[in-house]
Amino acid sequence: MGRIYNLISIQDLSRETIDLILDTAHKMESVAAERSNELSNKIMAVLFFEASTRTRLSFESAMLRLGGSVLGFADVTTSSAGVKGETLADTIRTVERYADIIVIRHPLDGSARVAAEFSAIPVINAGSGAEEHPTQALLDLYSIKKMKGKIDGLFISLCGDLRYGRTVHSLGMALANYDVSINLAAPESLRMKPAIVDEMRKAGLKVREVNSMDEALKDADVVYMTRIQKERFPDVREYTAVQGKFRIDSDDVAKMKRDAIILHPLPRVDELDASIDTAPQAKYFDQVYNGVVTRMAILKLILS
Ligand code: NCD
Repeated sequence: MGRIYNLISIQDLSRETIDLILDTAHKMESVAAERSNELSNKIMAVLFFEASTRTRLSFESAMLRLGGSVLGFADVTTSSAGVKGETLADTIRTVERYADIIVIRHPLDGSARVAAEFSAIPVINAGSGAEEHPTQALLDLYSIKKMKGKIDGLFISLCGDLRYGRTVHSLGMALANYDVSINLAAPESLRMKPAIVDEMRKAGLKVREVNSMDEALKDADVVYMTRIQKERFPDVREYTAVQGKFRIDSDDVAKMKRDAIILHPLPRVDELDASIDTAPQAKYFDQVYNGVVTRMAILKLILS
């Protein structure tokens, strides 16, 4: 099994490596509670050129629970890249001299790959434009495994903005490693990229594209809902045409299997009605915690 160095795309990981990360995340459950000093000699730099709550804070929480230290910026308007026009390459060449690992989020597709090319230290992609968000996919897989006891054999619906949503791109490609049936439920204009659908089909997955939530809810074991990525639409009229069309409320939950789970990378806007938060299927806040142990596993595997 190849050692993990950078984590840029979920496609860089074999099924074996994904399983190792999920197993390590499971072992991290007790470490997360008790804390350790395994990475006490390591520094993690977080470079967030785009808004974040969970991804950045869970990476920081993960590093602190392993005894490591954290530095960086969460607001690009306080960095030279944001204010003085410093290039990404120069930012990376600087930060690599301060830290042992870089976690980067950037609005451009391909940005994390570029950062890794310039960096002398490992780089983790915490979201690159509309393209990918591999650590979110890993915590999503970990959540499914933990909550359903398995991944193989499940019926999984990916719903909402499958075009601009980077989390579903990474998750779709990650699921190509498993024996699952997939429903892709999105408005016509926000369908999943054909390249990802092809990849899932080539891997032998049964993939169905539907354009209503009803079909996505019925029979599903996992309903993975996403936010319409308003900020990535080139034309706001394109957004208003689909706004509020794909959502789940308590009537929808009544149509779901009792033991199904609803996941969402968060933040939500209106696609998960607050009235469903107390439903037994609503697991998105439990999913948030899984981001800590999964990111502890990733940091440990790369740094130790
Ligand atoms: C997602 C993201 O940034 O891509 N959030 C996250 O990392 N949990 C999803 C989103 O913004 O809708």
